[in-house]
Amino acid sequence: MSEKFKLADPCTMIIFGATGDLTKRKLFPALYNLAKAKFLPDNFAIVGVGRQEMTSEDFRSQMKGNLTEFIGKDVDKDLLKWFEERTHYTGGDFAAKKTFTELRKLLKELDKQFDIPENYFFYLATPPSLFGLVTEKAAEIDLTDEKDGWRRFIYEKPFGRDLESAKSLNIELQKILKESQIYRIDHYLGKETVQNILVFRFGNSIFEPIWNRNYIDHVQITVAEKLGVELRGGYYDAAGALRDMIPNHIFQLVTLTAMEPPISFEANAVRDEQAKILCAIQPFSPEDVLHKTVRGQYGEGQIEDKKKIAYRAEPQVNPMSNTETFAALKLSIDNWRWAGVPFYVRTGKRMAAKHSEIVIQFKKAPFMLFRETAIEKLTTNRIAIHIQPDEGITLHFGAKIPGPIVNMGSVDMDFNYLDHFGEQVSTGYERLLFDCMTGDATLFQRADMVEASWAIVSPILDVWQAIPARDFPNYESGSWGPKESDALLEQDNRKWQNTVD
Ligand code: BG6
Repeated sequence: MSEKFKLADPCTMIIFGATGDLTKRKLFPALYNLAKAKFLPDNFAIVGVGRQEMTSEDFRSQMKGNLTEFIGKDVDKDLLKWFEERTHYTGGDFAAKKTFTELRKLLKELDKQFDIPENYFFYLATPPSLFGLVTEKAAEIDLTDEKDGWRRFIYEKPFGRDLESAKSLNIELQKILKESQIYRIDHYLGKETVQNILVFRFGNSIFEPIWNRNYIDHVQITVAEKLGVELRGGYYDAAGALRDMIPNHIFQLVTLTAMEPPISFEANAVRDEQAKILCAIQPFSPEDVLHKTVRGQYGEGQIEDKKKIAYRAEPQVNPMSNTETFAALKLSIDNWRWAGVPFYVRTGKRMAAKHSEIVIQFKKAPFMLFRETAIEKLTTNRIAIHIQPDEGITLHFGAKIPGPIVNMGSVDMDFNYLDHFGEQVSTGYERLLFDCMTGDATLFQRADMVEASWAIVSPILDVWQAIPARDFPNYESGSWGPKESDALLEQDNRKWQNTVD
């Protein structure tokens, strides 16, 4: 598949919460990479909006400092100048009309200066509690109406904290915006390897015929991090691993792995198929929650010879906290392709390795041709899609070890992104920002998908809240999670594929 090279539409990007970490670490570097690769037109401007009072001059020098820090010494001076000319800031209270009237005035000036046809995209890098307010205020001064140019709104996660809150947020936003103007971002969809799942499955003819219950025994999805909660204890303690990772990032991986071929790569065709998978995931009864889910919280431990403190000792975390930092689920997808094929998913902080991958475990060969030999235990085939840190795909199969007697060993056939395509400079946000600027919503969440995802996890959250964990902390920092996580697969005679860092 190759897409024709095109430029983003002429537009202004307005970042709410512009003085935060996301703007520094991801958004500006992503814009820089896009401009460097010549995807941005000259008719482009950026306006940062924050509660902090600051001049445009101060904001620009922060931006320059951040870009120099994140891009490194090779930062292109001409490009920095290009950004400087186009970057502005306006500060004020998000609840005050004045903040928005000043923004409106600034936008008009920039439209004129850079010949921009009133196309605006708003990036809400704010706490979710402000999503509704900012959108409403923007509507009050006519910044949501599309009569003079397009208006798009990107909302960062978390989008709600359960089914009810996600529904109310959808209702609140849809009162003001059309669904086609709402871009709910999930940065996992910006990752090359995640986008490659569709190309791997549907751009090759050899995998799809065996991608079903006749050949696949089960699927494992792991998103393990070595990091703890860092400086986000306040947010994380009220969220937990399940909310933070599963209805968003992990369900993206599940749907892309499990979906039927879409009729085209048009946004709704792809999202329809993803939504069908979410609707086909069997709901968890309270009984299921006890048997098909596992939660954990990290205690003290060691990672790379360094001592790590327990979650409960982290800054801004309640010392008696019952919030989970690890979650594992056994999902069943009730459809023709996947009946009887469990999808085991797990995610956790302070685990043994940074390791995100999807493992497709195939069934054993049916004919035990080698029954009488020493290799009675045939190896099973496995495809591992490595998402990070080493992006690539491995096919695991059995091969005869050279020699006069039949002996079989397990071998890996590896495709590694870096070896084939060289290093790609990317923050993971480039593609998503560019897609928003060109009006392609394929990699963004639709309202029904967000609600279907929360509908799956909300019953788990309810049971976990009603029955607080009594054994926390129940895994050591630097381990592969609580023993109950291994037991979840062992009860089905299966085992997690752990990698050693
Ligand atoms: C974020 C979560 O959405 O994703 C974090 O809030 C998590 O807790 C992060 O660390 C993981 O993203 P990545 O790209 O590092 O796998």
